[in-house]
Amino acid sequence: MRKHIVAGNWKMNNGLIQTKTLISELKQQKKTSDAEVMIAPAFTNLWPAFEATRQYPIEVVAQNMHFADAGAYTGEISAGMLKSIGIQTVILGHSERRAYFNETDNDLAKKVDTALANEMRVIFCFGEELDDRKAGNHEKVVESQIKNALFHLEASAFKSIVLAYEPVWAIGTGETATPEQAQDMHAFIRKTLADKYSSETANSVSILYGGSVKPNNAKEIFSKPDVDGGLIGGASLKADDFFAIVNAF
Ligand code: 13P
Repeated sequence: MRKHIVAGNWKMNNGLIQTKTLISELKQQKKTSDAEVMIAPAFTNLWPAFEATRQYPIEVVAQNMHFADAGAYTGEISAGMLKSIGIQTVILGHSERRAYFNETDNDLAKKVDTALANEMRVIFCFGEELDDRKAGNHEKVVESQIKNALFHLEASAFKSIVLAYEPVWAIGTGETATPEQAQDMHAFIRKTLADKYSSETANSVSILYGGSVKPNNAKEIFSKPDVDGGLIGGASLKADDFFAIVNAF
């Protein structure tokens, strides 16, 4: 069975004190679902978050990393650096990285390779913009994002990959894809994987939905057969809301 995963992407929020406070609140929550729980604080708070969650079923993951192993890349963080503090999973390709930091499919293919070479797990994000959706190009856009960054990989690499479909128009807007829109796209993604690899590979990959998932809509979205979890922005910054979503499974 595919893993259920609920991951909180904190984005550029929370300093050290807030990070410690939110984590202590998360630790008081009761998990009643089978979902794996992840949080992605900013780089500066990864180590304190990692230490604070030892012994708890909360995995601390990174929001990004560079594709080079080391070198003259001022301001960047490598896979090796993340691994050196115990981080095993990295989010790559978030639409904010693509839009504001010009990350291309080609950059992302390199980052994915580096993460896998370092035996890290990748949460690979993609999703169409509103204009693509309005023009009916959403499947084409998503297919090309996946193909360009991932289809050079062997099928076995997908053991270490989680996909996250995040329609850009639903991120931080309060406007969610309907559960049907999410299901349709997730089924399309799975078919795209099955056509390239095999239905066995396609059926083994967890596909998360992201974009204004809240306690009041999580249950319905997660009830769809091809939705295996969520990547949560705003609602992951409040312990009660985040665990209401975790427990929506
Ligand atoms: P929101 O849940 O705030 O819409 O953000 C989604 C997201 O971008 C998670 O990566």
